[in-house]
Amino acid sequence: MLSRIQRALGPPLARLAELEAPDALRRRVPAGVSSRLPGPLRRRLSPPQVAAEAPGRLPSLGQDADEGHRSYVASLDASGVRWLNTKPFSAPPNHELARCLHSFAHIVEYLSLPESAQVLDVGCGPGWISEWLARCGYHVTGVDVSEDMVAIARQRLERVPVVDDAQPTPQAEFEAMASDELPYEDRFDAAVLYDAMHHFTDERASLAAVHRSLIPGGRIYIHEGVRPPAGSAGERELIEEMERYGTLESPFDPAYLVQVLGEAGFVDIERYVEADLLLDLGSVKGELAGLRRRAEAPETNTIVARKPIPSGDTSGRLMADIEVGEVGERDGRLTVALTIANTGAAFWTAAGRYPFPVGSVTVAPYLRRADGSRDELDRVALPRSVPSGESVEVTLEFDSAALSTAAELAVDLVAEGVCWFGERGSSPATVELPG
Ligand SMILES: C[S@@+](CC[C@H](N)C(=O)[O-])C[C@H]1O[C@@H](n2cnc3c(N)ncnc32)[C@H](O)[C@@H]1O
Repeated sequence: MLSRIQRALGPPLARLAELEAPDALRRRVPAGVSSRLPGPLRRRLSPPQVAAEAPGRLPSLGQDADEGHRSYVASLDASGVRWLNTKPFSAPPNHELARCLHSFAHIVEYLSLPESAQVLDVGCGPGWISEWLARCGYHVTGVDVSEDMVAIARQRLERVPVVDDAQPTPQAEFEAMASDELPYEDRFDAAVLYDAMHHFTDERASLAAVHRSLIPGGRIYIHEGVRPPAGSAGERELIEEMERYGTLESPFDPAYLVQVLGEAGFVDIERYVEADLLLDLGSVKGELAGLRRRAEAPETNTIVARKPIPSGDTSGRLMADIEVGEVGERDGRLTVALTIANTGAAFWTAAGRYPFPVGSVTVAPYLRRADGSRDELDRVALPRSVPSGESVEVTLEFDSAALSTAAELAVDLVAEGVCWFGERGSSPATVELPG
């Protein structure tokens, strides 16, 4: 999770967007939009046909954008293809390196997923994010409308060195498909859309498809350009790019992106600014003031949201069978061994660390006192994520003195920020306390 100060600060990218793109590119990068690699001019749309005004986005020119994206790699020269194979590294490094490293850190830090979590990378392009997420032990599915991009992503994965058996073999698969045609349902813990949405012709259908693909409680992480002001140089560059490549270069007004996320059914929608920089200790105040000014008009839409778990859902999605094993007491500590089976339909995401992310599942012990009152004890993260049908061993440890006035010790599970499993029809376990 990003710290408060990071939320308060401005984006680091304002300056970067003005810098030269990689040597191979020799052109300017429109503000807030990732660099694309030019190849020979493939076609011109002449005269440009401006499609009906899309509220909240730069309108398209009426081009078949999916086709533009499918043929994009074929239009690149050797240095362009090399970049896709090595992104974000080049020698010497270009501005994309710092940008991608910062962004990747934000994604893994915010999502804070446990090993083997299922992640969907939508508009994965050459797959650098998919590759790195897979190297973190996540199971990644990357999708892109371009067969050529998918082929590059697959090759990148094959080239990842496996050092020894202790290191998880990176798990990633790639499929060529459009973002509004995702066939998945209730499958992924998280979806990442990095510099991709400004290419999607139908943002509503795409977000609906991502929403369908996520498990209840699953999260979406969007990093996207902000629509430049009408008539600005940034807008002109995007239009030229559309004319040149036939692709769609249509970033979003922040409020519009928030609106369509809500319409697609996402909740807990939060906007962030990315603010990584080396602060000069000699002029911290001035630098912070500059960052604050930039925060007032971020050039990047960095937005996270969550698919809700339906309230009052007693469909059996969140069900557990909690079996109490050995109960032991030693040196004033009580240990309780549990076997916890996922007997519901939902995938349980383990919380990587405290504070527990919304939607992650934790073990939640509490005391039932003789007078009927209930005291919650510290919750404990699952040692790993648990798919439906699997079980996990957990040992809880308590200070015996703290339990002495209790009539009973009970153990339930909690979907953090969502509900107790007991509220959904699952039965908490009762632990007999030693006399
Ligand atoms: C600017 S690239 C970014 C790729 C990748 N996320 C990265 O950071 O390198 C955007 C990608 O979106 C893909 N794309 C465009 N329209 C798409 C669509 N409708 N569905 C899926 N992918 C699409 C393009 O083919 C391209 O690879």
